[in-house]
Amino acid sequence: MQIGCRGTMRTAWPLLLVATALLSTSAARARRTCRFPAVFNFGDSNSDTGGFWAAFPAQQGPFGMTYFGRPAGRASDGRLVIDFIAQAMGLPLLSPYLQSIGSDYRHGANFATLASTALLPNTSVFVTGTSPFSLGIQLNQMKEFRNRVLASKGNNGQLPGSEILGDALYTIDIGQNDFTSNLGSLGVESVKRSLPSVVSQISWTIQDLYSSIGARSFMVFNMVPVGCYPAFLAGLPRDSKDLDEFGCVKSYNGGVTYYNQLLNDSLAEVRKTLQDASVVYVDKHAVTLELFQHPTAHGLKHGARACCGYGGGTYNFDRDVYCGDSKVVNGEAATAGACADPQNYVSWDGIHATEAANSRIAYAVISGSYSYPPFDLSKLCSP
Ligand SMILES: *[C@@H]1O[C@H](CO)[C@@H](O)[C@H](O)[C@H]1NC(C)=O
Ligand SMILES: *[C@@H]1O[C@H](CO)[C@@H](O)[C@H](O)[C@H]1NC(C)=O
Repeated sequence: MQIGCRGTMRTAWPLLLVATALLSTSAARARRTCRFPAVFNFGDSNSDTGGFWAAFPAQQGPFGMTYFGRPAGRASDGRLVIDFIAQAMGLPLLSPYLQSIGSDYRHGANFATLASTALLPNTSVFVTGTSPFSLGIQLNQMKEFRNRVLASKGNNGQLPGSEILGDALYTIDIGQNDFTSNLGSLGVESVKRSLPSVVSQISWTIQDLYSSIGARSFMVFNMVPVGCYPAFLAGLPRDSKDLDEFGCVKSYNGGVTYYNQLLNDSLAEVRKTLQDASVVYVDKHAVTLELFQHPTAHGLKHGARACCGYGGGTYNFDRDVYCGDSKVVNGEAATAGACADPQNYVSWDGIHATEAANSRIAYAVISGSYSYPPFDLSKLCSP
């Protein structure tokens, strides 16, 4: 499977450079010509633009150091893929639905929160850190948003007109926490058995958005190769037989590939049911795997090594001293600070990607060459 992905990458990668060039001109003048006037996003930390930290305020530096110069509610040093997509469409960065101060929802809303799952969680944020705002809750929030939009009849300066509900782009990037949260306790084979219900939840959400909100355009992101995350690698013995030639956990990445096939198949079924909708499967996995495997080919220096972490070594990740934390370890003060050059890293904190990686992933995604069916950039924004 991985061989196949790499084969695809070799031919598809040059397109990314073309897309990058295209974007730098189109982003600037996209403001009036974008087909999508708004984006509604559902997801987890990979696309949370401040929702979790609006509900549970406490985010600290060095998060946000690269782009925002302050903690900006994102699990990165800078912008996320969804931020780059919004900017490429000439839209403002998405306001979190949960953020009551300073939000502007005229161009969409972001329901994603860090640590969200697709399935309803059986645990609490205070026990395992799992967000209470799972996909079903995010869908309910979208319905409440729709109710408020309809009630305001265009007279609320913070809200869009109701026509935006059908015209908007709906993006979904969730499932990773359903996969990873039980890996340690249950093992990958057991977790795999739960994945069909995760995928069903996503497909069911698309159909509900279609029928209850009138959504017609969907981009659904697949799962990235978490087996290359420093957070998981740091826990394995170096001579583990479960590492591939690039140093990633084979069994975890195998589980991810299995999930992605389930998702792709399920979306094919959704397309048959919702024939006048555009349901795009976005292969973020292929781009991210390529960055982890060949960072230097894309202007980066480090693959599976955290920029912000503690402990040094190969992965610079210590689960007890997470990015931004200061603790006493073995009687000594330990701080997990950021590296001086996050622009050279794929991994920001051992789990989440840097702004540098996110920009490369976003431009590849926007190019359309990682989407099924192929997603034409001109549909996003005409030049
Ligand atoms: C929570 O528990 C129920 C009942 O045991 C189960 O059906 C469901 O899949 C569990 N959810 C998760 C996210 O594990
Ligand atoms: C997803 O499924 C479509 C058919 O529905 C197929 O053409 C495409 O190659 C699949 N993509 C991946 C990455 O598996």
